[in-house]
Amino acid sequence: MPIPMFDNVPMPSSPSIQHVIAIAAGKGGVGKSTLAVNLALALKKLGYKAGILDADIYGPSIRKMLPEDRLPTQQEREITPALCQGIQMISMAYFRPENEAAVVRAPIANQVISQFLQSVSWGQLDYLLIDFPPGTGDIQLTLSQQANLTGAVVITTPQEISLLDVRKAVHMFNQVKIPLIGIIENMSYYEDPYSQEKRFIFGEGGGKKLALEIGAPLLGSIPLHPEICRSGDEGSSLFSKTPLSSSAQAFQHAASQLVDHVEALKENTKKGLSHFELNWKEMAT
Ligand SMILES: Nc1ncnc2c1ncn2[C@@H]1O[C@H](COP(=O)(O)OP(=O)(O)OP(=O)(O)O)[C@@H](O)[C@H]1O
Ligand SMILES: [Mg+2]
Repeated sequence: MPIPMFDNVPMPSSPSIQHVIAIAAGKGGVGKSTLAVNLALALKKLGYKAGILDADIYGPSIRKMLPEDRLPTQQEREITPALCQGIQMISMAYFRPENEAAVVRAPIANQVISQFLQSVSWGQLDYLLIDFPPGTGDIQLTLSQQANLTGAVVITTPQEISLLDVRKAVHMFNQVKIPLIGIIENMSYYEDPYSQEKRFIFGEGGGKKLALEIGAPLLGSIPLHPEICRSGDEGSSLFSKTPLSSSAQAFQHAASQLVDHVEALKENTKKGLSHFELNWKEMAT
């Protein structure tokens, strides 16, 4: 399906989308896509209408993690997103064969992102989660400037090396005045299936340390668990089983914290407080 190309204008602020949230990290492989999928499923379980925009043009992985029940359709300028387990979704993966790389230069990739922002007709959504590609480059800036973001959720793993890159993502959002809603620490611990003891394989407390340092809340800590990896590989939902597993509960806790903090941000914005007066500290460069 060709993506319709037309002029570069910011996504119109859509009254039908309540909140647009960036799911980002400076670093690759920390679990952004896994978090985007499971937060969307958790939000749906909590009763919200959720959508995902997979902005990873070069390595879109959400389609594999969240297979569609209905493909996207296109009529002239308007794209109707795919429907995947009740989540609306758009991704470059629908426009290219699975094993073919998107060999496009940055300006074209940027244009594709702009088209996604302008021409997808989402209908009524409570939360649109944007799965940011890794890094802090051109596409991330385009998204920050054009997607009418409510705020950003930054994903990290506990190691210092991950924190280093995540600080760069925080700095980027700071520069473009996008409020930081909070941090989610992924792969925080492994729970021994026999003793139920938590083992902090990648070190303990990295996410909390970063949250304190930048003055943003830690929205949740997600365990390192084979079922999270498996559900992504198989495209099955962690939320289809009851009672919910401990991994699904961790996502649900993070999703409800996200909702609470987005609401708090909205209230404070209404009162005219800037996000810098709320939960931000200017980052040292
Ligand atoms: N908490 C977890 N427990 C087990 N496996 C996980 C967990 N989080 C992510 N993974 C696995 O780690 C791999 C990388 O995750 P994912 O693709 O979500 O990262 P990403 O940050 O989106 O990567 P990229 O930067 O390449 O887009 C995947 O195989 C995923 O299933
Ligand atoms: Mg990804």
